[in-house]
Amino acid sequence: MAIMGDVTGDRIRLSALDPERLSPEYALWMKDPDVLQFLAEPAGDYSPGALREYVRRMNASPADHFSGIFLNATGEHIGNIKIGSVHPYHRRADIGLLVGAKKMWGQGFGTEALFLATRYALAELGLNKLYAGILVTNTASRRAFSKVGYREVGIYERHWRLGDEYVDAVLVECCAPFRAELSKRPKETGGRP
Ligand SMILES: CC(C)(COP(=O)(O)OP(=O)(O)OC[C@H]1O[C@@H](n2cnc3c(N)ncnc32)[C@H](O)[C@@H]1OP(=O)(O)O)[C@@H](O)C(=O)NCCC(=O)NCCS
Repeated sequence: MAIMGDVTGDRIRLSALDPERLSPEYALWMKDPDVLQFLAEPAGDYSPGALREYVRRMNASPADHFSGIFLNATGEHIGNIKIGSVHPYHRRADIGLLVGAKKMWGQGFGTEALFLATRYALAELGLNKLYAGILVTNTASRRAFSKVGYREVGIYERHWRLGDEYVDAVLVECCAPFRAELSKRPKETGGRP
């Protein structure tokens, strides 16, 4: 069982989701085409029952560390983040996130969540590397990963289906040791020493 331990930052905390008490907003985010276009499974089943089952499965999976993103100020659930498919021998994992509440976009929460989860994975779980694939047009995500210290290492051509088109994906990675300034917010440091 691999639930991400509580990780608290300046404005948000990463904390396990209770599958029996999911916020109704979660199911609404997962119907939003603006959100879905950037996800690996845009055509998945995101009904409330399927989400409950997904969270149960993630919480029980030893290879995945899945967590909600909650505002410290109000406790509001604004998104999710996952350190996934941990390879126990190579000590690497993929990372993906979602700030589902669109009103929260552009306020630095995605960057802070990524910063906290990356630090947790590399400094506390002892992983050697995190990586992700990002739709080439997903400027906000590319920027957030870059600010936290990920580097773009290549492009997969025509990797992502977007309606009737195939679009390139950018591959990013961040290796241990995690050198970001731990005591300051990524916004203040650019996620770098
Ligand atoms: C990608 C995502 C996680 C970013 O979260 P966020 O909280 O909005 O991001 P931040 O506020 O931390 O912003 C990160 C950077 O992107 C920029 N940015 C935010 N929205 C942007 C947009 N629509 N277009 C261009 N840049 C944008 C911000 O200005 C910031 O850069 P800056 O500090 O240089 O100004 C969020 O938009 C999201 O969940 N989108 C849908 C799902 C998704 O794309 N997940 C990632 C899959 S790899």
